[in-house]
Amino acid sequence: MSEHLWTGRLSDRLDEEFAEFQASLRFDHRLAKYDIEASIAHAQMIRDQGIINPEEGDQVLSALREIATDKAYEMKACSLAGEDIHTVVETLLKQKIGNLAGKLHTARSRNDQASTDLRLFIKAACQSHRVNIRALRKQLMYEAERHLASRDGSPAFLPGYTHLQIAQPLHLSHWFMSFFEALSRDESRFEEAHKRMDQCPLGAAALCGTSWPIDRMSTAKRLGFYEPMRNSVDAVASRDFVTDYLCASSSLMATLSRMSEDLILYSTSEFGFVQMPDELSTGSSIMPQKKNPDLCELTRGKTGRVYGHLMGTLTVLKALPTAYNKDLQEDKEAVFDVFDTVGPLLRLWARLMPKLRWDTDKMFQRTHDGFSCATELADELARGGVPFREAHRIVGRLVLFCVTRGKSFGELKSSELRTFHPLLTEQLMERMSVELVAESRKSFGGSSKRLIAEAIDQGKKQFRDNPD
Ligand code: ARG
Repeated sequence: MSEHLWTGRLSDRLDEEFAEFQASLRFDHRLAKYDIEASIAHAQMIRDQGIINPEEGDQVLSALREIATDKAYEMKACSLAGEDIHTVVETLLKQKIGNLAGKLHTARSRNDQASTDLRLFIKAACQSHRVNIRALRKQLMYEAERHLASRDGSPAFLPGYTHLQIAQPLHLSHWFMSFFEALSRDESRFEEAHKRMDQCPLGAAALCGTSWPIDRMSTAKRLGFYEPMRNSVDAVASRDFVTDYLCASSSLMATLSRMSEDLILYSTSEFGFVQMPDELSTGSSIMPQKKNPDLCELTRGKTGRVYGHLMGTLTVLKALPTAYNKDLQEDKEAVFDVFDTVGPLLRLWARLMPKLRWDTDKMFQRTHDGFSCATELADELARGGVPFREAHRIVGRLVLFCVTRGKSFGELKSSELRTFHPLLTEQLMERMSVELVAESRKSFGGSSKRLIAEAIDQGKKQFRDNPD
């Protein structure tokens, strides 16, 4: 490792293993783009404020711009010996303009730089995830629309489960739209996180600001922030913008993981409701018959890893003394790993949706066989004046009767039905079809076809009114 920034104060050579260990360049090189951008904004400001003279300011600026336009700047930065990306960008500058490069660091510190760079990275990450979530939501909406009339013109049904026991008939489209809704909240969490972190720490310097006449408003604006952070200590000490991002990512992963679990189950030979596309599955090296739902399994597995990063970062932050401490260097790898997980997953999920092959006949049969209309039958008795609790008991006994005799509701004769309750007739039992029962769910947010169609229209309107 070359000469360190603090060699004025510390004279002994740094232990080589420690030098390597404490450096962050091996991961924070990913902030190179933002470090150069922030350096340009800072250089412009110190030149405009007369903190460095205009000629020197221009030299610094044009050298920084040259570095920014060089496509290989990140690679070059990585090849240099240096502690972190901030140090190395300065070294790149020094290679161009010599000792004048040292003037760039007037009125700033790596403490405000580190926080500024990471905010810029995460702001871009939030925007990118939002765009990807929208693309996935669109696919879910198209699938919902397609399956509203997919079985010979009638909608596709899915047994709706609670406790993983068949509960009520569910339109497959309603299942798709349930994730459309959940993902809309995930999308807004990134939007809100972005809004909260839209304040610039640059100019907070080490922790107390600076005696130089800096203009923090102008650097904030140049870097696309809404405003500068209001308290210099808070600016360098806080990392809640990191945990906001990790939190939004964790919520998103929880949604994707739930969807994964459904698809993993539905694709087993026991359920047999859906087939994964070959291009997004893998086989087994030993069992020739296997087709594994790896994308879903990896989503479920990586959800644990993303939660781990959130928990890890919260733990780093706990009990830190004010203001910057080197512990904070631990904020970056979590963010990069989560970004590298969430981005590809969202794109892959958007491609997965239209490629799922649903066995709608089998799904219908299971819905039909599973006494999924029992709640509605109890509701019918209640409409006839039987208190619901009593109606529930009567239908429960009827189900037990069917189960022990291997019969379905539709196979029961009037004489059998009457022994349970006079209101139970064959005509009533005919109305207990999967289609009619599903259609009767007309309460707001319910699963009737008309309500689902309305939800899809609402979704389309959202995208029309608010295109990216
Ligand atoms: N590399 C550090 C980080 O990522 C920035 C340096 C902070 N300042 C210091 N005096 N060590 O957090």
